[in-house]
Amino acid sequence: MAFKHWPLVRDLRFAQKCGRYLRGARKRRPDLDWDEFRRIARHFKRDDMGSYPERGFLFQLAADTPADAQVVEVGSWMGASTCFLAAGLRGAGARIFAVDNFQGLSTCGEDAAWYNRHFQALGANSTLEIFRANFAALGLSARAEPVVSDSLAAAQSLAAKQGSIDLVFIDGDHSYAACQADIGAWAPFVKRGGVMAFHDFGSRAEGVTRAIFEEIKAGRFAEIVGVAGTIIAFRM
Ligand SMILES: C[S@@+](CC[C@H](N)C(=O)[O-])C[C@H]1O[C@@H](n2cnc3c(N)ncnc32)[C@H](O)[C@@H]1O
Repeated sequence: MAFKHWPLVRDLRFAQKCGRYLRGARKRRPDLDWDEFRRIARHFKRDDMGSYPERGFLFQLAADTPADAQVVEVGSWMGASTCFLAAGLRGAGARIFAVDNFQGLSTCGEDAAWYNRHFQALGANSTLEIFRANFAALGLSARAEPVVSDSLAAAQSLAAKQGSIDLVFIDGDHSYAACQADIGAWAPFVKRGGVMAFHDFGSRAEGVTRAIFEEIKAGRFAEIVGVAGTIIAFRM
């Protein structure tokens, strides 16, 4: 086992990195429940899909939605980003529809190889049960509705929700064509004044960056809400 994965070392790294992030976050947004953020972060301290500033930004975006908000996430994997979003929501009616085939399928070559390695290590062919177990462990299951489906098929089956979603977070297939298709399929779901956010803008996933740039130039988004790490969020 690599040194950084020793339990004691991992706990120390978590305390240092998360603590450092939280000191700034508590000053910037004293109105948010950062103890709740820390609870989720502690549960996911082995997670390597996002940095604390990125996870904190998702938590903040969710907390800034109205009570009983409806959220769609495309690409949930084991549910880490989904839990940070769910933890920020308020109201008994708040829901997050977590769209994923839960099979790590990707048309993006590098990602496909990464998923293959991960599934071999897991000894499983789906992350759905891990997703459910994470939500259950954090007491957040009532807020999550996994939608086990390809993204574009889900956009068709959920079509009745167009125009009613407060926040859409896209983190699915990172190829240019897939990201472009996701934007086209999911933008109509966002309410006027709602938010559409993306992971991996400006990252090595150049197809994601290109697809988002084209939409900016085409005037798809009304304004930028914020940027944290490689997450960018727009008001619609
Ligand atoms: C980068 S991971 C998501 C990570 C997660 N958002 C997080 O930060 O914890 C991408 C996910 O997108 C899913 N995915 C890829 N292409 C998809 C598609 N066409 N439809 C649905 N899910 C897809 C994969 O199964 C994978 O779980």
